[in-house]
Amino acid sequence: MRKLSELAHLDGKRVVIRCDLNVPLDGTRITDDGRIVASVPTIKYLVDQGAKVIVISHLGRPEGAPEAKYSLEPVANRLSELLGSPVAFAGDTVGSAARAAVTTLERGGVVVLENLRFNPGETSKSEDERREFASKLAEFADIMVSDGFGVVHRKQASVYELAQLLPSYAGFLIEKELEVLERLTKSPERPYAVVLGGSKVSDKLGVIDHLLPTVNKLLIGGGMVFTFLAALGHKVGSSLLEVDQIPVVTEYLARAKQLGVEIVLPTDIVVASKFGADAEVSITAADAIEGSPFGASGLGLDIGPQSAENFAREILGAKTVFWNGPMGVFEIDKFANGTRAVAKALTEMNGFSVVGGGDSAAAVRVLGFEDSQFGHISTGGGASLEFLEGKKLPGLEVLND
Ligand code: 3PG
Repeated sequence: MRKLSELAHLDGKRVVIRCDLNVPLDGTRITDDGRIVASVPTIKYLVDQGAKVIVISHLGRPEGAPEAKYSLEPVANRLSELLGSPVAFAGDTVGSAARAAVTTLERGGVVVLENLRFNPGETSKSEDERREFASKLAEFADIMVSDGFGVVHRKQASVYELAQLLPSYAGFLIEKELEVLERLTKSPERPYAVVLGGSKVSDKLGVIDHLLPTVNKLLIGGGMVFTFLAALGHKVGSSLLEVDQIPVVTEYLARAKQLGVEIVLPTDIVVASKFGADAEVSITAADAIEGSPFGASGLGLDIGPQSAENFAREILGAKTVFWNGPMGVFEIDKFANGTRAVAKALTEMNGFSVVGGGDSAAAVRVLGFEDSQFGHISTGGGASLEFLEGKKLPGLEVLND
């Protein structure tokens, strides 16, 4: 892989850096700036080398047209605070504002261009359209640095085609993420446990398939747990359920048994009368969710206290743990206990802990943990999962000689 660390003579060069500055916002307030913080070392290095730095990123999923709520302006402001120096912001991506900002950029100067996904070419299915948009971005720069690890699994114009049009190199964040994730795929110290949560089973099935032969234990929580419980023949009330995935999960349960991998499921569930902070709750056995006072309308929104304790014990007994996906609706305090217990155990374990994913990373920070309490917090959600699945990621492939 071509790396920025191997590149000399950046002084006065125009460098476009693809970051993943896709951070959660509440209006214009950034609720977790982890991805901006993680992007700073490479940007700072470019500044210190005297490059003219053009930062590009997406934010959210606008559909090819400007939408004020997805503007990168608050991100540019935060980046300026973190760098401790001014950062210009261009109100478009390849239009007159961007052109003017790039042209007036001085050595060591930084500009953030507006959200890439305000342009249909960025995410287009047509390779020609992506290439056309990437060519406009390429006009701004002499060199491309790819550092948005969270987006390397996307074959999008600024990630893939742009890297083909300019001499392109992996930045420090990508280098660091790969070092950690390779440690998990190549030589994890055992016992190796993976904790999976979040809401969509279908998103995580690929990783389960790939992980079964490599892990010792798989702990399942979050919304995906109900498809597992249903596969075991239990009724799950009105909890999230992906009926079409039940046969696949049934097959995984059988395969795990054959391989000697223990799949640890919750034994109790926090069942709610409805979704919301004012819901009534009942702690119910995982195999009898419909036995809660809410019957078939009960909604499982977190793993129960006994399960949280079990999960924490399993984590403390492991030497390597990868965790992706919250255990419950952690944004609402009464459903945050499972996620908090898992995060706490990760900070206390005697081994290597990796938190993967935008949601889980945001969860640990929202719940008051510090990044330094974990072995590594990945900036990639889908990207880290696809890496562990063993898939080829276009944004990385394109950086290979
Ligand atoms: C993420 O949040 O995982 C990355 O920023 C990629 O975003 P996307 O899933 O909208 O492509």
